[in-house]
Amino acid sequence: VKLLNATVAHIGIAVPDLAEASAFYRDILGAEPRGLGQLDGATIVSFQLGEVEVELLHPESDDSPVGRFLARRGPGIHHICYRVPNLIETLARCRAQGYRLVDEAPRVGQGGNRVAFMHPKSTGGILIELTE
Ligand code: CO
Repeated sequence: VKLLNATVAHIGIAVPDLAEASAFYRDILGAEPRGLGQLDGATIVSFQLGEVEVELLHPESDDSPVGRFLARRGPGIHHICYRVPNLIETLARCRAQGYRLVDEAPRVGQGGNRVAFMHPKSTGGILIELTE
């Protein structure tokens, strides 16, 4: 297997209260909050921590993906996003090795980046987002 130099792009955390959750990153870790607007029914506030961003995800409604996650599992890590050099190639490799994908083809995610989600059933219970 050739090394792809994949990196962690961001960690998405589902929070019931954005202001309360932001306080730790802003006041304790000293990171600057950046409002990223809304995506997939969630309001996102992000904090840059070195190379990695932490994204706090707050659901707009109970029947949004993050709303359902909060109801089912409570606050916590919602997904981890890995950056890969070639998303199409990575998805093809996933398919060839039998991984279950949520997105069969890349779609437009945050900031116009191409992303695809993998099903947590085939990734140890963790929702994984791939981007490039
Ligand atoms: Co994400």
